Amino acid sequence: MSGDDRRDDGGTPLFVFPEWQNKVPGVVLACGGLAAIAAMAAVWYWFSPSFTDVGYMPEQPVPYSHKLHAGDLGIDCRYCHVGVERGPVAGVPPTQTCMNCHAQIKPESPLLVPVRESWATGEPVPWVRVHKVPDYARFDHSAHVGAGVGCEECHGRVDQMIEVRQQQPLSMGWCVDCHRDPAARLRPAELVTKMGYAPAGDAVAAGKEMMAKKGISPPTHCSGCHQ
Ligand code: HEC
Ligand code: HEC
Ligand code: HEC
Ligand code: HEC
Ligand code: HEC
Repeated sequence: MSGDDRRDDGGTPLFVFPEWQNKVPGVVLACGGLAAIAAMAAVWYWFSPSFTDVGYMPEQPVPYSHKLHAGDLGIDCRYCHVGVERGPVAGVPPTQTCMNCHAQIKPESPLLVPVRESWATGEPVPWVRVHKVPDYARFDHSAHVGAGVGCEECHGRVDQMIEVRQQQPLSMGWCVDCHRDPAARLRPAELVTKMGYAPAGDAVAAGKEMMAKKGISPPTHCSGCHQ
């Protein structure tokens, strides 16, 4: 089979990518036998949803429970995810945040051994990342949280999860769907971390009013999310 046949057969989408896509590995390796296979493998890996699947719930080094801490104890999301209103990255809390309480609360708990080790050595707890959009797409927490999109729109009822799992596909279609018509999914900005939010009255009308007042207009053009 020649290189040209390969292109015609399985690789169709590879060659209609717009120019900005040239950062995607594999696309640059467009021809030749092994190179074509490597390109397919790279693209397959890159686009494979292995770590962005709905339901993805990796095992964590400490059995930390959001249901206990954010649900039962009612600790605000921003106490630990301090970056969420300031920039692109929400951030996972440093060990210091856990030790604010766990220096006194359950200081001998065997479940907290990795936290105490981290505290002693200064090495961070090796939390496993759950949600990830590919590097070629831009996402910014503060833009969303500031516009009144609640955490639960994208992450679900984290306050009921013992372990966090991915709730939404994080696919391009999912992002663009909301961007086209976000009104019903906006809430007053001070309630973004409230779980189980139920709008009083007409959510769409309230959302439209917020959009007009704050000039909210999410990007739907390609360069809004892809450089
Ligand atoms: C006491 C600290 C604490 C509080 C409060 C807290 N979290 Fe977390 N959160 C963590 C830690 C630690 C992790 C990393 C371990 C894990 O994924 O369970 C995490 C992970 C997450 C993740 C997954 C991150 C990833 O890797 O993709 C999401 C989403 C999340 N939290 C949302 C929330 C929301 C929403 C709230 C409020 C309802 C909240 N958290 C409250 C400590 C906290
Ligand atoms: C605001 C205080 C507070 C903070 C901050 C906090 N916790 Fe907790 N945590 C508690 C309380 C209260 C309990 C329940 C203790 C009990 O069952 O008596 C608990 C229980 C736990 C348990 C179960 C321990 C056991 O033996 O049953 C783990 C594990 C845990 N927390 C991990 C963490 C981690 C990791 C962090 C940092 C990301 C953290 N906690 C931050 C208050 C806190
Ligand atoms: C519009 C959807 C959306 C909203 C609203 C949202 N998130 Fe996220 N969150 C995402 C996406 C998408 C990712 C993966 C981002 C990436 O890979 O850069 C993510 C990743 C995370 C992570 C892990 C990576 C990081 O940025 O540290 C945490 C923790 C997190 N979110 C917490 C929160 C909390 C807490 C809130 C509410 C205050 C919130 N998120 C609101 C979509 C959202
Ligand atoms: C539930 C609705 C919703 C979802 C889902 C959503 N967004 Fe947004 N997005 C918004 C709103 C609202 C804004 C704010 C627009 C404004 O303030 O003008 C926004 C703004 C943005 C911006 C512009 C930020 C800036 O700094 O100018 C980018 C980029 C973006 N979103 C990317 C994404 C990506 C990528 C995803 C999917 C992973 C996503 N969004 C999912 C509602 C959403
Ligand atoms: C609101 C943000 C947003 C906009 C607007 C957007 N994209 Fe995307 N796009 C994404 C995200 C997020 C992904 C990664 C999806 C995934 O991981 O499944 C993506 C992935 C892609 C991919 C990789 C193939 C795939 O589907 O997984 C291509 C090609 C692409 N976008 C092209 C475009 C083009 C062309 C436009 C303009 C018509 C566009 N995008 C507009 C967010 C956006």
